[in-house]
Amino acid sequence: MSRHLLSAGDLSRDEAVAILDTAKRMHAIQTREVKKLPPLRGRTVVNLFFEDSTRTRSSFEIAGKWLSADVINVSAKGSSISKGESLRDTVLTVAALGVDALVVRHNASGAVQRIAGWVSCPVINAGDGTHEHPTQALLDAFTLRERLGDLSDRHVVIVGDITHSRVARSNVLLLATLGARVTLVGPPTLMPAGVATWGCTTSWDLDAVLSGKAAGDVDAVMMLRVQRERLGGGSAAGARDLGGQFVPTEREYAIGYGLSPARLDLLPDTAPILHPGPMNRGLEISSIAADSARSMVLDQVQSGVAVRMAVLYRMLAGAEHPVLDEEPA
Ligand code: NCD
Repeated sequence: MSRHLLSAGDLSRDEAVAILDTAKRMHAIQTREVKKLPPLRGRTVVNLFFEDSTRTRSSFEIAGKWLSADVINVSAKGSSISKGESLRDTVLTVAALGVDALVVRHNASGAVQRIAGWVSCPVINAGDGTHEHPTQALLDAFTLRERLGDLSDRHVVIVGDITHSRVARSNVLLLATLGARVTLVGPPTLMPAGVATWGCTTSWDLDAVLSGKAAGDVDAVMMLRVQRERLGGGSAAGARDLGGQFVPTEREYAIGYGLSPARLDLLPDTAPILHPGPMNRGLEISSIAADSARSMVLDQVQSGVAVRMAVLYRMLAGAEHPVLDEEPA
């Protein structure tokens, strides 16, 4: 595995499968009473988050701790960034503390790659702007494989605000590497320029896609969060306003692209529903869909810990480390 994990596109099929297989073994540990393993004892992992996060930050923290690393959280709020320190100075300061890996989230696309060029330790991209979120794609692939088995020729439909979604970008890359077929669905205003070169089918007719009429039978659906903070809306007009630039109103979006109970009925009974969270219930996903037996939302959160354990383990302990066969620490 290469030194850093910056893009899902950096992973070869063999590397991706190796991480997913390691994650499977880590997943088994999650249900043990004693979850701690020793391989990262004495190592320090810093979660450096310049943007809000619940699941990604806490699951990296739990993953590191279960592997016996010391995990420290540094967030932009409450750090010297708010005193005017430059990004480079903040990063070099944190690295100088004696860090073995940096897990970084930043609201600017490309920032994590830039940071990787400044430090000598491995850097993991935990989401950079609208660009990439490779460990999310890995946990999504893990969740899909648990339900569907091998993903070759499986048809995954990704729905919503594709333009602003780092989750969509990383998933498109990883799913292609794993041999799956992807259809992207969303309003034309939320389809990125150049999407035709991504190697996916695209559509703005969600009903036709879900019913299998537009792009063939559907094996899984991934709903994306409407990225309110990146749409420029949510101002004085309140939460109903999506900025007007991309989508007129929330209601219009929900009618065209929300996973309503009626749309749930268009899907095969076996098709799992994914959402990276946090969910906007009633906007991109109805509560009936989010809480249905087909919803994998909490499985995704659980897989997130196993996948991040696998990534940290393979990056820091090395693939050949035999400790997984040992008893818990
Ligand atoms: C995603 C993110 O932050 O990119 N969430 C996550 O990591 N679980 C998706 C999102 O915020 O829409």
